[in-house]
Amino acid sequence: MAKNILVTGGAGYIGSHTVLQLLLGGYRTVVVDNLDNSSDISIKRVKELAGEFGNNLSFYQVDLRDKPALEKIFSETKFDAVIHFAGLKAVGESVEKPLLYYDNNLIGTIALLEVMSAHGCKNLVFSSSATVYGWPKVVPCTEEFPLCAANPYGRTKLFIEEICCDIHRSDSEWKIILLRYFNPVGAHPSGHIGEDPRGIPNNLMPFVQQVAVARRPALTVFGNDYNTVDGTGVRDYIHVVDLADGHIAALRKLSDRSIGCEVYNLGTGKGTSVLEMVSAFEKASGKKIPLVMAGRRPGDAEIVYASTEKAERELNWKSKYGIEEMCRDQWNWASKNPYGYGSPETNHS
Ligand code: NAD
Ligand code: UD1
Repeated sequence: MAKNILVTGGAGYIGSHTVLQLLLGGYRTVVVDNLDNSSDISIKRVKELAGEFGNNLSFYQVDLRDKPALEKIFSETKFDAVIHFAGLKAVGESVEKPLLYYDNNLIGTIALLEVMSAHGCKNLVFSSSATVYGWPKVVPCTEEFPLCAANPYGRTKLFIEEICCDIHRSDSEWKIILLRYFNPVGAHPSGHIGEDPRGIPNNLMPFVQQVAVARRPALTVFGNDYNTVDGTGVRDYIHVVDLADGHIAALRKLSDRSIGCEVYNLGTGKGTSVLEMVSAFEKASGKKIPLVMAGRRPGDAEIVYASTEKAERELNWKSKYGIEEMCRDQWNWASKNPYGYGSPETNHS
Protein backbone atom coordinates (compact mmCIF):
# COMPACT_ATOMS: atom_id res chain seq x y z
CA MET A 1 0.00 0.00 0.00
CA ALA A 2 1.32 3.44 -0.92
CA LYS A 3 2.14 5.62 2.08
CA ASN A 4 0.21 8.85 2.71
CA ILE A 5 2.39 11.87 3.43
CA LEU A 6 1.15 15.29 4.49
CA VAL A 7 3.42 18.10 3.29
CA THR A 8 2.92 21.50 4.92
CA GLY A 9 4.27 24.38 2.84
CA GLY A 10 4.33 22.08 -0.19
CA ALA A 11 3.62 24.90 -2.67
CA GLY A 12 6.86 26.66 -1.69
CA TYR A 13 10.36 26.37 -3.09
CA ILE A 14 11.74 23.33 -1.27
CA GLY A 15 8.27 21.86 -0.66
CA SER A 16 7.32 21.74 -4.36
CA HIS A 17 10.55 19.95 -5.31
CA THR A 18 10.08 17.48 -2.46
CA VAL A 19 6.44 16.81 -3.39
CA LEU A 20 7.56 15.95 -6.93
CA GLN A 21 10.19 13.48 -5.64
CA LEU A 22 7.59 11.96 -3.29
CA LEU A 23 5.09 11.44 -6.12
CA LEU A 24 7.75 9.95 -8.38
CA GLY A 25 8.73 7.67 -5.49
CA GLY A 26 5.16 6.33 -5.32
CA TYR A 27 3.95 8.22 -2.23
CA ARG A 28 0.41 9.64 -1.99
CA THR A 29 0.83 13.29 -1.06
CA VAL A 30 -1.46 15.88 0.48
CA VAL A 31 -0.23 19.48 0.48
CA VAL A 32 -1.41 22.08 2.99
CA ASP A 33 -0.30 25.63 2.22
CA ASN A 34 -1.88 29.06 2.77
CA LEU A 35 -0.04 30.39 -0.35
CA ASP A 36 1.28 33.28 1.73
CA ASN A 37 4.67 33.03 -0.01
CA SER A 38 3.85 30.83 -2.99
CA SER A 39 1.49 30.18 -5.87
CA ASP A 40 -0.77 27.25 -6.66
CA ILE A 41 0.80 27.25 -10.13
CA SER A 42 3.71 25.33 -8.54
CA ILE A 43 1.23 22.62 -7.50
CA LYS A 44 -0.20 22.41 -11.04
CA ARG A 45 3.30 22.14 -12.52
CA VAL A 46 4.33 19.45 -10.04
CA LYS A 47 1.22 17.47 -11.01
CA GLU A 48 2.18 17.75 -14.70
CA LEU A 49 5.80 16.82 -14.08
CA ALA A 50 4.71 13.76 -12.10
CA GLY A 51 2.77 12.34 -15.09
CA GLU A 52 0.57 9.41 -14.06
CA PHE A 53 1.64 9.88 -10.42
CA GLY A 54 0.12 13.37 -10.48
CA ASN A 55 -3.23 11.83 -9.50
CA ASN A 56 -1.73 11.00 -6.11
CA LEU A 57 -1.48 14.70 -5.19
CA SER A 58 -4.15 16.76 -3.45
CA PHE A 59 -3.93 20.35 -2.30
CA TYR A 60 -5.69 22.31 0.44
CA GLN A 61 -5.27 26.06 0.76
CA VAL A 62 -5.27 26.12 4.55
CA ASP A 63 -3.34 28.02 7.21
CA LEU A 64 -1.75 25.72 9.79
CA ARG A 65 -3.16 27.87 12.58
CA ASP A 66 -6.68 26.98 11.38
CA LYS A 67 -7.01 23.90 13.61
CA PRO A 68 -10.57 22.91 12.59
CA ALA A 69 -9.48 22.86 8.93
CA LEU A 70 -6.43 20.74 9.82
CA GLU A 71 -8.62 18.40 11.90
CA LYS A 72 -10.85 17.87 8.87
CA ILE A 73 -7.89 16.96 6.65
CA PHE A 74 -6.58 14.48 9.24
CA SER A 75 -10.03 12.93 9.70
CA GLU A 76 -10.28 12.27 5.95
CA THR A 77 -6.86 10.62 5.51
CA LYS A 78 -4.69 8.49 7.78
CA PHE A 79 -1.20 9.90 7.33
CA ASP A 80 1.94 7.80 7.76
CA ALA A 81 4.11 10.89 8.24
CA VAL A 82 4.22 14.67 7.95
CA ILE A 83 6.97 16.75 6.31
CA HIS A 84 6.68 20.21 7.82
CA PHE A 85 8.06 23.02 5.63
CA ALA A 86 5.42 25.71 6.29
CA GLY A 87 6.86 28.81 7.87
CA LEU A 88 8.00 32.35 7.23
CA LYS A 89 11.73 32.60 6.48
CA ALA A 90 12.86 36.19 5.85
CA VAL A 91 15.48 37.08 8.45
CA GLY A 92 15.13 40.89 8.14
CA GLU A 93 11.34 40.76 8.31
CA SER A 94 11.57 38.57 11.42
CA VAL A 95 13.62 41.29 13.15
CA GLU A 96 11.01 43.92 12.25
CA LYS A 97 7.96 41.76 12.98
CA PRO A 98 8.97 39.17 15.61
CA LEU A 99 5.40 38.49 16.73
CA LEU A 100 4.38 37.64 13.17
CA TYR A 101 7.17 35.05 13.09
CA TYR A 102 6.41 33.62 16.55
CA ASP A 103 2.71 33.45 15.72
CA ASN A 104 3.08 31.91 12.29
CA ASN A 105 6.00 29.55 12.86
CA LEU A 106 5.46 28.53 16.48
CA ILE A 107 1.66 28.57 16.79
CA GLY A 108 1.36 26.95 13.35
CA THR A 109 3.73 24.15 14.41
CA ILE A 110 2.03 23.62 17.76
CA ALA A 111 -1.37 23.36 16.07
CA LEU A 112 0.06 20.81 13.64
CA LEU A 113 1.67 18.73 16.41
CA GLU A 114 -1.55 18.74 18.45
CA VAL A 115 -3.65 17.57 15.52
CA MET A 116 -1.05 14.93 14.57
CA SER A 117 -1.04 13.61 18.12
CA ALA A 118 -4.85 13.54 18.33
CA HIS A 119 -4.96 11.47 15.14
CA GLY A 120 -2.13 9.09 16.13
CA CYS A 121 0.27 10.33 13.45
CA LYS A 122 3.59 10.63 15.29
CA ASN A 123 6.14 10.62 12.46
CA LEU A 124 7.58 14.01 11.55
CA VAL A 125 10.32 15.49 9.36
CA PHE A 126 10.96 19.16 10.16
CA SER A 127 12.77 21.87 8.13
CA SER A 128 15.40 23.39 10.37
CA SER A 129 18.30 25.49 9.20
CA ALA A 130 22.06 25.89 9.44
CA THR A 131 21.21 29.27 10.92
CA VAL A 132 21.09 27.46 14.31
CA TYR A 133 24.92 27.19 14.16
CA GLY A 134 25.18 31.00 14.27
CA TRP A 135 28.79 32.07 13.65
CA PRO A 136 30.68 28.76 13.83
CA LYS A 137 34.21 29.02 15.26
CA VAL A 138 35.37 26.12 13.10
CA VAL A 139 34.01 24.31 10.06
CA PRO A 140 32.63 21.89 8.97
CA CYS A 141 29.60 22.19 11.27
CA THR A 142 28.71 18.91 12.94
CA GLU A 143 25.31 18.24 14.46
CA GLU A 144 26.86 18.39 17.96
CA PHE A 145 27.98 22.02 17.63
CA PRO A 146 26.62 24.50 20.19
CA LEU A 147 23.50 26.23 18.92
CA CYS A 148 22.42 29.85 18.98
CA ALA A 149 19.94 32.15 17.30
CA ALA A 150 20.88 35.47 15.77
CA ASN A 151 17.33 36.68 15.04
CA PRO A 152 13.65 35.80 15.65
CA TYR A 153 13.52 33.59 12.52
CA GLY A 154 16.45 31.54 13.81
CA ARG A 155 14.89 31.45 17.26
CA THR A 156 11.71 29.86 15.84
CA LYS A 157 13.89 27.09 14.37
CA LEU A 158 15.70 26.55 17.69
CA PHE A 159 12.43 26.57 19.67
CA ILE A 160 10.76 24.11 17.32
CA GLU A 161 13.78 21.78 17.49
CA GLU A 162 13.48 21.90 21.31
CA ILE A 163 9.70 21.38 21.24
CA CYS A 164 10.21 18.31 19.05
CA CYS A 165 12.79 16.84 21.44
CA ASP A 166 10.46 17.48 24.41
CA ILE A 167 7.56 15.76 22.67
CA HIS A 168 9.67 12.73 21.96
CA ARG A 169 10.87 12.65 25.59
CA SER A 170 7.26 12.77 26.79
CA ASP A 171 6.02 10.07 24.40
CA SER A 172 8.46 7.63 22.81
CA GLU A 173 5.98 6.78 20.05
CA TRP A 174 7.03 10.03 18.35
CA LYS A 175 9.73 9.65 15.71
CA ILE A 176 11.12 12.97 14.58
CA ILE A 177 13.87 13.96 12.15
CA LEU A 178 15.13 17.52 12.23
CA LEU A 179 16.88 18.45 9.00
CA ARG A 180 19.26 21.38 9.09
CA TYR A 181 19.47 22.71 5.54
CA PHE A 182 22.49 24.65 4.37
CA ASN A 183 21.92 26.91 1.30
CA PRO A 184 19.37 25.47 -1.12
CA VAL A 185 19.75 26.77 -4.69
CA GLY A 186 18.97 25.70 -8.25
CA ALA A 187 15.73 24.33 -9.60
CA HIS A 188 14.24 21.20 -11.10
CA PRO A 189 16.15 20.38 -14.33
CA SER A 190 12.89 20.72 -16.32
CA GLY A 191 12.91 24.46 -15.55
CA HIS A 192 9.18 24.29 -14.69
CA ILE A 193 9.49 24.73 -10.93
CA GLY A 194 11.95 26.85 -8.96
CA GLU A 195 12.29 29.61 -6.38
CA ASP A 196 10.00 32.63 -6.76
CA PRO A 197 10.51 34.98 -3.82
CA ARG A 198 8.11 37.88 -3.26
CA GLY A 199 9.68 41.35 -3.25
CA ILE A 200 13.41 41.96 -3.16
CA PRO A 201 15.25 38.65 -2.74
CA ASN A 202 17.21 38.31 0.53
CA ASN A 203 19.30 35.39 -0.62
CA LEU A 204 22.21 35.39 -3.03
CA MET A 205 21.09 33.21 -5.93
CA PRO A 206 17.54 34.54 -6.35
CA PHE A 207 19.11 38.00 -6.51
CA VAL A 208 21.74 36.93 -9.05
CA GLN A 209 19.00 35.32 -11.13
CA GLN A 210 16.98 38.56 -11.19
CA VAL A 211 20.05 40.54 -12.28
CA ALA A 212 20.59 38.03 -15.11
CA VAL A 213 17.05 38.57 -16.46
CA ALA A 214 17.47 42.37 -16.14
CA ARG A 215 14.96 42.78 -13.31
CA ARG A 216 17.72 44.38 -11.20
CA PRO A 217 20.80 46.32 -12.32
CA ALA A 218 23.54 44.80 -10.17
CA LEU A 219 24.34 42.43 -7.32
CA THR A 220 25.52 44.05 -4.11
CA VAL A 221 28.30 41.92 -2.62
CA PHE A 222 28.08 42.11 1.17
CA GLY A 223 31.68 42.25 2.31
CA ASN A 224 34.96 41.50 0.53
CA ASP A 225 37.22 41.66 3.57
CA TYR A 226 36.47 38.24 5.08
CA ASN A 227 39.28 35.82 5.76
CA THR A 228 38.34 33.63 2.79
CA VAL A 229 39.73 32.68 -0.62
CA ASP A 230 38.69 36.01 -2.22
CA GLY A 231 37.40 38.00 0.75
CA THR A 232 33.71 37.18 0.19
CA GLY A 233 31.51 35.00 2.41
CA VAL A 234 31.61 31.24 2.02
CA ARG A 235 28.54 28.99 2.16
CA ASP A 236 27.51 25.40 1.45
CA TYR A 237 25.18 25.60 -1.56
CA ILE A 238 23.08 22.50 -2.18
CA HIS A 239 20.95 21.66 -5.22
CA VAL A 240 17.28 21.74 -4.26
CA VAL A 241 16.66 18.34 -5.90
CA ASP A 242 19.39 16.80 -3.72
CA LEU A 243 17.74 18.43 -0.73
CA ALA A 244 14.34 17.05 -1.78
CA ASP A 245 15.87 13.56 -2.02
CA GLY A 246 17.22 14.03 1.51
CA HIS A 247 13.59 14.14 2.70
CA ILE A 248 12.80 10.81 1.07
CA ALA A 249 15.84 9.38 2.85
CA ALA A 250 14.56 10.85 6.13
CA LEU A 251 11.12 9.29 5.60
CA ARG A 252 12.76 5.90 5.07
CA LYS A 253 14.74 6.42 8.28
CA LEU A 254 11.51 7.05 10.20
CA SER A 255 10.62 3.40 9.78
CA ASP A 256 13.69 2.39 11.87
CA ARG A 257 12.45 1.06 15.18
CA SER A 258 15.27 2.72 17.09
CA ILE A 259 14.84 6.29 15.87
CA GLY A 260 13.74 8.91 18.42
CA CYS A 261 14.35 12.59 17.76
CA GLU A 262 17.38 12.88 15.49
CA VAL A 263 19.05 15.77 13.72
CA TYR A 264 20.89 15.70 10.37
CA ASN A 265 22.70 18.30 8.30
CA LEU A 266 21.73 18.45 4.64
CA GLY A 267 24.59 20.07 2.77
CA THR A 268 27.36 19.11 0.37
CA GLY A 269 30.30 19.59 2.74
CA LYS A 270 31.89 22.06 0.31
CA GLY A 271 32.28 25.82 0.76
CA THR A 272 31.90 28.27 -2.15
CA SER A 273 32.48 32.04 -2.02
CA VAL A 274 30.08 34.68 -3.36
CA LEU A 275 32.46 35.52 -6.22
CA GLU A 276 32.96 31.85 -7.09
CA MET A 277 29.20 31.39 -7.20
CA VAL A 278 28.70 34.47 -9.40
CA SER A 279 31.42 33.32 -11.77
CA ALA A 280 29.84 29.83 -12.07
CA PHE A 281 26.48 31.44 -12.79
CA GLU A 282 27.99 33.73 -15.44
CA LYS A 283 29.50 30.69 -17.11
CA ALA A 284 26.22 28.75 -17.05
CA SER A 285 24.08 31.64 -18.29
CA GLY A 286 26.44 33.53 -20.57
CA LYS A 287 25.26 36.69 -18.76
CA LYS A 288 27.51 39.24 -17.09
CA ILE A 289 26.45 40.01 -13.51
CA PRO A 290 27.46 43.60 -12.63
CA LEU A 291 28.75 43.82 -9.03
CA VAL A 292 28.68 46.59 -6.44
CA MET A 293 31.02 46.01 -3.51
CA ALA A 294 29.50 46.98 -0.15
CA GLY A 295 30.10 46.47 3.55
CA ARG A 296 29.30 43.28 5.45
CA ARG A 297 25.62 42.45 6.04
CA PRO A 298 24.93 42.61 9.79
CA GLY A 299 24.63 39.18 11.33
CA ASP A 300 26.47 37.36 8.53
CA ALA A 301 28.94 34.60 9.30
CA GLU A 302 32.27 34.32 7.49
CA ILE A 303 32.41 30.64 6.52
CA VAL A 304 29.66 28.06 7.00
CA TYR A 305 29.63 24.57 5.57
CA ALA A 306 28.32 21.22 6.70
CA SER A 307 29.77 18.03 7.97
CA THR A 308 27.82 15.51 5.90
CA GLU A 309 29.09 12.37 7.63
CA LYS A 310 26.09 11.69 9.83
CA ALA A 311 23.56 11.99 6.98
CA GLU A 312 25.73 9.83 4.72
CA ARG A 313 26.14 7.17 7.39
CA GLU A 314 22.66 7.06 8.89
CA LEU A 315 20.35 8.31 6.12
CA ASN A 316 22.38 6.72 3.36
CA TRP A 317 22.05 10.01 1.49
CA LYS A 318 24.67 12.15 -0.22
CA SER A 319 24.36 15.13 -2.53
CA LYS A 320 24.94 14.36 -6.21
CA TYR A 321 25.07 17.77 -7.87
CA GLY A 322 27.84 20.37 -7.93
CA ILE A 323 27.89 24.15 -8.40
CA GLU A 324 27.82 23.79 -12.20
CA GLU A 325 24.54 21.89 -12.20
CA MET A 326 23.06 24.23 -9.57
CA CYS A 327 23.79 27.26 -11.77
CA ARG A 328 22.71 25.50 -14.98
CA ASP A 329 19.32 24.60 -13.48
CA GLN A 330 18.87 27.97 -11.79
CA TRP A 331 19.42 29.67 -15.16
CA ASN A 332 17.15 27.23 -17.00
CA TRP A 333 14.32 28.09 -14.56
CA ALA A 334 15.09 31.84 -14.68
CA SER A 335 15.28 32.06 -18.47
CA LYS A 336 12.03 30.12 -18.90
CA ASN A 337 10.27 32.01 -16.08
CA PRO A 338 11.88 35.46 -15.72
CA TYR A 339 8.97 36.54 -13.48
CA GLY A 340 8.73 33.24 -11.61
CA TYR A 341 5.13 32.00 -11.51
CA GLY A 342 3.86 35.54 -12.15
CA SER A 343 4.19 38.09 -14.94
CA PRO A 344 5.66 41.60 -15.16
CA GLU A 345 2.15 42.91 -14.36
CA THR A 346 1.68 40.77 -11.23
CA ASN A 347 5.22 41.33 -9.98
CA HIS A 348 5.89 44.94 -9.13
CA SER A 349 8.97 44.40 -6.96
P1 NAD B 1 8.91 29.02 0.97
O1 NAD B 1 8.47 30.31 1.54
O2 NAD B 1 9.07 28.93 -0.51
O3 NAD B 1 7.90 27.87 1.43
C1 NAD B 1 7.21 27.89 2.67
C2 NAD B 1 5.75 27.67 2.37
O4 NAD B 1 5.01 27.66 3.59
C3 NAD B 1 5.14 28.76 1.48
O5 NAD B 1 4.51 28.15 0.37
C4 NAD B 1 4.15 29.46 2.39
O6 NAD B 1 3.02 29.93 1.66
C5 NAD B 1 3.80 28.36 3.39
N1 NAD B 1 3.34 28.84 4.70
C6 NAD B 1 3.95 29.74 5.51
N2 NAD B 1 3.24 29.88 6.65
C7 NAD B 1 2.18 29.03 6.56
C8 NAD B 1 1.09 28.74 7.41
N3 NAD B 1 0.94 29.33 8.60
N4 NAD B 1 0.18 27.83 7.01
C9 NAD B 1 0.30 27.23 5.80
N5 NAD B 1 1.29 27.47 4.95
C10 NAD B 1 2.24 28.37 5.32
O7 NAD B 1 10.25 28.59 1.71
P2 NAD B 1 11.27 27.42 1.39
O8 NAD B 1 12.54 28.02 0.96
O9 NAD B 1 10.64 26.37 0.57
O10 NAD B 1 11.51 26.89 2.88
C11 NAD B 1 10.77 25.80 3.42
C12 NAD B 1 11.19 25.61 4.87
O11 NAD B 1 12.59 25.38 4.93
C13 NAD B 1 10.91 26.81 5.77
O12 NAD B 1 10.51 26.34 7.02
C14 NAD B 1 12.27 27.49 5.87
O13 NAD B 1 12.42 28.21 7.06
C15 NAD B 1 13.21 26.30 5.84
N6 NAD B 1 14.55 26.64 5.36
C16 NAD B 1 14.69 27.26 4.13
C17 NAD B 1 15.96 27.62 3.69
C18 NAD B 1 16.15 28.32 2.38
O14 NAD B 1 17.21 28.90 2.16
N7 NAD B 1 15.20 28.31 1.46
C19 NAD B 1 17.08 27.33 4.49
C20 NAD B 1 16.90 26.70 5.71
C21 NAD B 1 15.62 26.34 6.13
C1 UD1 C 1 20.66 33.63 5.09
C2 UD1 C 1 20.11 33.94 6.46
C3 UD1 C 1 19.92 32.63 7.22
C4 UD1 C 1 19.03 31.68 6.44
C5 UD1 C 1 19.63 31.47 5.04
C6 UD1 C 1 18.78 30.61 4.17
C7 UD1 C 1 20.91 36.18 7.11
C8 UD1 C 1 21.81 36.93 8.02
N1 UD1 C 1 21.02 34.82 7.19
O1 UD1 C 1 21.89 32.98 5.23
O2 UD1 C 1 19.34 32.85 8.49
O3 UD1 C 1 18.90 30.44 7.09
O4 UD1 C 1 19.79 32.75 4.40
O5 UD1 C 1 17.54 31.21 3.91
O6 UD1 C 1 20.11 36.75 6.38
N2 UD1 C 1 25.09 37.90 -0.34
C9 UD1 C 1 25.53 38.97 -1.06
N3 UD1 C 1 24.60 39.76 -1.70
C10 UD1 C 1 23.24 39.50 -1.64
C11 UD1 C 1 22.80 38.37 -0.88
C12 UD1 C 1 23.77 37.61 -0.25
O7 UD1 C 1 26.72 39.25 -1.15
O8 UD1 C 1 22.44 40.24 -2.22
C13 UD1 C 1 26.10 37.04 0.32
C14 UD1 C 1 25.95 36.96 1.84
O9 UD1 C 1 26.65 37.98 2.48
C15 UD1 C 1 26.52 35.55 2.11
C16 UD1 C 1 26.16 34.76 0.86
O10 UD1 C 1 25.92 35.72 -0.16
O11 UD1 C 1 27.91 35.60 2.22
C17 UD1 C 1 24.92 33.90 1.02
O12 UD1 C 1 23.86 34.72 1.49
P1 UD1 C 1 22.35 34.17 1.66
O13 UD1 C 1 21.93 33.52 0.39
O14 UD1 C 1 21.52 35.29 2.18
O15 UD1 C 1 22.47 33.00 2.74
P2 UD1 C 1 23.08 33.01 4.24
O16 UD1 C 1 23.87 34.22 4.50
O17 UD1 C 1 23.77 31.72 4.42
